[in-house]
Amino acid sequence: MQKYDVIIIGGGINGGSIAYQLSKRNYRVAVLEKERIASEASSAAAGMLGAQVEPRIDGAFFDFARKSRDYFDQLVPEIEQVSDQPVEFLKNGMLRIAFSEEEANMLKERIAWQQEQGEPAEWLSADQVYQMEPELKAEIVGAASFPKDGQVMPAQLTKAFFKGASNLGADIYEFTWVKGLLGKNGVITGVETTSGRFYAEHIVVAAGAFTPHLSLPDGASLPTLTPVKGEILAVRPEKPIITSTIYSPTVYIVPKANGEIFIGATEREGIYDKIVSFESIRRLSAEACRIVPALRSAEWSRAWAGVRPQTIDGLPYLGPHPDFKGLWLAAGHFRNGILLSALTGVWMADQIEGKADHLEWKDAFDPGRHSQKGVIP
Ligand code: FAD
Ligand code: GLY
Repeated sequence: MQKYDVIIIGGGINGGSIAYQLSKRNYRVAVLEKERIASEASSAAAGMLGAQVEPRIDGAFFDFARKSRDYFDQLVPEIEQVSDQPVEFLKNGMLRIAFSEEEANMLKERIAWQQEQGEPAEWLSADQVYQMEPELKAEIVGAASFPKDGQVMPAQLTKAFFKGASNLGADIYEFTWVKGLLGKNGVITGVETTSGRFYAEHIVVAAGAFTPHLSLPDGASLPTLTPVKGEILAVRPEKPIITSTIYSPTVYIVPKANGEIFIGATEREGIYDKIVSFESIRRLSAEACRIVPALRSAEWSRAWAGVRPQTIDGLPYLGPHPDFKGLWLAAGHFRNGILLSALTGVWMADQIEGKADHLEWKDAFDPGRHSQKGVIP
């Protein structure tokens, strides 16, 4: 019988971050992953740390997102040292370009409330943007500049979390498929896997879009998550052609530290497969080349897809299951799981340790927020 303090189901970036933070606090941790580490969304992402470029409104999500982004400054040197794995962290800033006055007004409002929160954000005229990024040739009205939003290589950061956790004593079990959770009388005590049973006081489900597929005792269920497939591609220009990440309503263009440029991504709801369609690549490429025509001569690298986990209200589930003691959820990070991963690990470790005191986050990310007892939608 395998017995741990904490079992984490899922070898994605969020399972990794939680495993790392708990191992740092001397918990005996096991991670159970059905395939290899980083085999799902966490290796498909563009890796943007878009705390300001993506959130539409002020509130708990924005607060958590910007604190998570800011924590990368401290986390990256630490995790690179513990794991000996570079994560290609760049603080290259993002330009969210507007093609119409309506988009410009929406972005100017965002700049205003973000500035009120003390974050750097400014409106740039089209000429200022062309000066910053001379290869950006599309006819734009202007752009919102978010200089603190950066990026990482998501699969590398995921692996770094797991190497770090493992170096601190965690056991990582790959090719170990969790079939269901074990327990009775409202207490979860273990898991049934393809490699036998594992037991722990705390079990954290960090299974991304696959979370609802896990079975609970007494016919109870985990919250529904909608899979939202995203297709994305990479090209390699002969020399760097842009420095900032360029984010438009139809496409984002992310210059990576290794010289590649990632161009993403589609959003296809309800789809779990990872097939990349020719039409999606054609459309993303056409949009990207309309904005930065020099991309046309870049060398083709590759294309891939992953599945984002979307909750009903778009906010992640980060906390205790409402009906089962010992069961925790860290899932539903949708479009921002890489950005949110840094603080997800700390926040989940704080809650498991009984040290979490941030009420606004507790309420906003409570896994029971949509449920009546026994019924999680
Ligand atoms: P996952 O990475 O999906 O990990 C869950 C793991 O659990 C998987 O490895 C899976 O195999 C395992 N698992 C599932 N069920 C079981 C089971 N029963 N037993 C054992 N193991 C199991 N986010 C950003 O912040 N910035 C971006 O730029 C960005 N770009 C994106 C671009 C695309 C195209 C896509 C698809 C997503 C993007 N995202 C981005 C979102 C981000 O990728 C996800 O939010 C994040 O990776 C979710 O991480 P996770 O660890 O929660 O889940
Ligand atoms: N955050 C970028 C994406 O999900 O495509």
